[in-house]
Amino acid sequence: MVWYSFMRDPMRRRTKPSDKPEAHPLLRLVDPERVPVHVAIIMDGNGRWAKARGLQRMEGHKAGIEAVRQAVSAASNLGVRYLTLYAFSVENWKRPATEVRALFQLLQRFLRSEAESIMKNGVRFRTIGRTDDLPPSVKKLLREMEAKTAHAGGCTLTLALSYGGRTEIADACDGLVREALAGRLTAKVTEEDVARHLYAPDLPDPDLLIRTSGEYRVSNFLLWQIAYAELAILDIFWPDFTEEHFYEAVLDYQRRERRYGGVSPGTEGQGATGARSSS
Ligand code: FPP
Repeated sequence: MVWYSFMRDPMRRRTKPSDKPEAHPLLRLVDPERVPVHVAIIMDGNGRWAKARGLQRMEGHKAGIEAVRQAVSAASNLGVRYLTLYAFSVENWKRPATEVRALFQLLQRFLRSEAESIMKNGVRFRTIGRTDDLPPSVKKLLREMEAKTAHAGGCTLTLALSYGGRTEIADACDGLVREALAGRLTAKVTEEDVARHLYAPDLPDPDLLIRTSGEYRVSNFLLWQIAYAELAILDIFWPDFTEEHFYEAVLDYQRRERRYGGVSPGTEGQGATGARSSS
C-alpha cells in the first residue's frame, strides 16, 4: 500500500511509518489482495460540465486535469499497477481546430507541470495510439517522458492519444500481413498473434473500465482488450471525479464474481449465487 498522495504535493511524501497519514475510510475497505491490476478510464463529460456552469468547453477540460490527478493518486494509493486514460480519440480530430489545439496545449502544460512528480513517484509513462499524428512539440515531450521513465518500477500511466480501438485492430492486422508477406507467419492467425501487434502488447488487459457521464458506451476504447473487463458507469461528469469515486468503483468491482465464460466453483447445475456475477 502506498500512503502518499501522488502528484498533488510530492514534497510531502512520507517515509517514516509514524508519518503515515490516515488512509481514506473507503480505502480501508478495499481488499488489497483483489485490487484490479489494470484500470482503464473513459474521461467523459468535460463539455457538459462546463455548459452546466455557463462556461466555455475548454474550462471543462481544464477542470478535468484535477480529476486526472485524483485518478492517478487513487490508483497509486490502491496499488493499481496500470492506469490507462482515454485522453484523445481518433474521432476527436473532428472537433473544432481551436479546441484540438487548446487540448494539446493543456496536455503539454500537464506533462511539464507533473514531470517531476511522475519521476519522483516511480511512475512509468507511456502512450498508445497513432501518436505520430500528434503535433511535433507534443510528440517530442511524450517521447522524452517515455524515455525518462522507461525503467520506473511503479504504476504505469498510459495515455491513449489519437487512439481508436478499431484503428488499433486494423494496425495490428497490417502488422500481421507484413509478417506474413515476409514469410514469418505461416500458420493460422491466433489471438496471441493479434495481441502481439497491439500498440502496447505487454500491458495486461484491463480488469476494470470506468466511464463517467453516465453513458453506457465503450466509445471505441481498447476494444480488443476489454473483452472481459468489468464496467463501472458513473453518473458524474469527468471534472467531478474524485479519489472516492475510484475507491467506490473498486469496492463494487470486488463484490463481483468474474467467471470468464465459465461457472462459479461448486455451482455447476445450480442457479445464480448471491454475489453479482459476470460472464
Ligand atoms: C471528454 O469530454 C474529454 C476529452 C475528449 C478529453 C479529455 C481531456 C482531459 C481530461 C484533459 C486533458 C487530459 C490529460 C491527460 C492531460 P468531452 O469534451 O467529450 O465532453 P462532452 O461529452 O460533455 O462534450
